[in-house]
Amino acid sequence: MAITKQNLSLLFTLFFFHLHCSTTSALAPEPAPAPEPTPTPPGPSDVTKILGKARQYTIFIRLLKSTKVSDRLLGELNDTVDGKSIFAPTDKAFSSLKSGALHSLNDEQRVELVLYHVVPIYVPLSQFLTVSNPMRTEAGDSGDGKFPLNVSTVGKTVTLITGLTKTNVAGTIYTDGQLAVYRVDQVLQPLQIFGSNSSAPAPAPAPGKSLKAAENSKALSIDMHNCVLFAVSVITFALSV
Ligand SMILES: *[C@@H]1O[C@H](CO)[C@@H](O)[C@H](O)[C@H]1NC(C)=O
Ligand SMILES: *[C@@H]1O[C@H](CO)[C@@H](O)[C@H](O)[C@H]1NC(C)=O
Ligand SMILES: *[C@@H]1O[C@H](CO)[C@@H](O)[C@H](O)[C@H]1NC(C)=O
Repeated sequence: MAITKQNLSLLFTLFFFHLHCSTTSALAPEPAPAPEPTPTPPGPSDVTKILGKARQYTIFIRLLKSTKVSDRLLGELNDTVDGKSIFAPTDKAFSSLKSGALHSLNDEQRVELVLYHVVPIYVPLSQFLTVSNPMRTEAGDSGDGKFPLNVSTVGKTVTLITGLTKTNVAGTIYTDGQLAVYRVDQVLQPLQIFGSNSSAPAPAPAPGKSLKAAENSKALSIDMHNCVLFAVSVITFALSV
């Protein structure tokens, strides 16, 4: 049989179809990276241990751990000379939050809420008088409607004002000249997260790994789709020859 022009182009098409689909099947999802071991560094001031001993802080401890803020604090306390001050809300404080308030927060907001309770310097109780308002917390921006935290001192009473919450420092749980942990009987609610103007919490983003897997499988299915389209057009073409 003589090789006609049509036959030749059909052959080419089949060849490219083969090439296309074999490169596609080579696109396998990347193996998930092995999770890095998280060392539990020993440190003189481990906030979760301090709070564990003090009891009645189980929810705050859980938040510190789940947001990894506890690890970060350990590292930072080890190499900063500024120290830290932490306002630890009791379990009762959390239970008096509007029901579901904590659950409706996305991962980022949870981290921000915890960091809002951490001041990046060591402030002994007697020194709150000298703090200028708004006090900066590790949640960042202390501008209006964001994460401002004001302190008002009258005699020995230190009052914390967020714009939504007004509560006194109810006691000192721990202090060592570098780290101070104070008890608060209310969760400090930042305007940025709980203010009436704050937009409804965005849906929690999927963790990086599963997002990547989803992308890969999407890419794969698009390529599969292309293959099928390609096959259909080849057959159509073959039939038309
Ligand atoms: C604390 O700092 C020292 C010296 O910089 C370092 O060797 C050690 O690993 C650090 N420990 C933690 C828990 O980060
Ligand atoms: C915090 O203090 C600053 C400076 O005094 C003031 O402008 C701001 O309105 C105060 N915010 C709250 C919520 O009290
Ligand atoms: C909410 O937004 C309005 C208009 O932007 C503003 O006037 C008001 O002060 C805001 N309220 C709070 C609590 O931030």
